[in-house]
Amino acid sequence: MPFVKTSEPHILDIASKWLADEKGALIGVLATLNLTNHPTTRAVAIREITHFEPLLFTQKGSEKVKQIELNNKVSLTVLLDNSNKQITFEGRAYPITSNENQSYWDSYPQQSKIRFCVYGPKSGKYIENPAVLNHELFAFEKECQNKTLRMPEAYVGYRIRTKILKLYELLDHEISKSWVAKKTGSNWEVKRVVP
Ligand SMILES: Cc1cc2nc3c(=O)[nH]c(=O)nc-3n(C[C@H](O)[C@H](O)[C@H](O)COP(=O)(O)O)c2cc1C
Repeated sequence: MPFVKTSEPHILDIASKWLADEKGALIGVLATLNLTNHPTTRAVAIREITHFEPLLFTQKGSEKVKQIELNNKVSLTVLLDNSNKQITFEGRAYPITSNENQSYWDSYPQQSKIRFCVYGPKSGKYIENPAVLNHELFAFEKECQNKTLRMPEAYVGYRIRTKILKLYELLDHEISKSWVAKKTGSNWEVKRVVP
């Protein structure tokens, strides 16, 4: 069945309101495909969402980056409103420009920069004694508290260019609501679906 426009509030207005109502940090579960096309997932913090395009930051050496470099089709699901609602963003992930990376790095709190400098470049590597990393953190904290920290090579942001947006609202006293929106060019075609 083709996607049709509906007369309900537009899915984008609904999604915007859900996101705006969220008070705490937005955490999503990002799905990527590994080298054998096996799906893998992990939690990521969502830095911001502009025009339904989520931005997240990670380490260049991480598994997810290796996977995205080979296949940038991703899906990201965010649970909202105490898990009564969910939004899924499906599309392709693209690294942001180095200028953008730099300006997000500059806006980071110093403590987050310090932590990233310590673990970011080594992300995913085997560690025999985790205490070593904590010692490194304490030493680096002392050394760098008031210093300007250069952006490490390992710091990278990805923006998801969303093509399909899915919304679900879990309801107790009526049938739950579910929508799917598909982006073609700059237009969104929306349909309400049976949950
Ligand atoms: C609440 C929460 C938020 C997280 N946020 C991020 C994040 O923003 N970026 C990131 O790379 N990893 C984040 N992680 C860690 C990832 O879930 C994951 O363990 C790590 O990135 C390695 O994933 P990968 O080996 O699949 O690349 C977060 C974990 C939790 C529990």
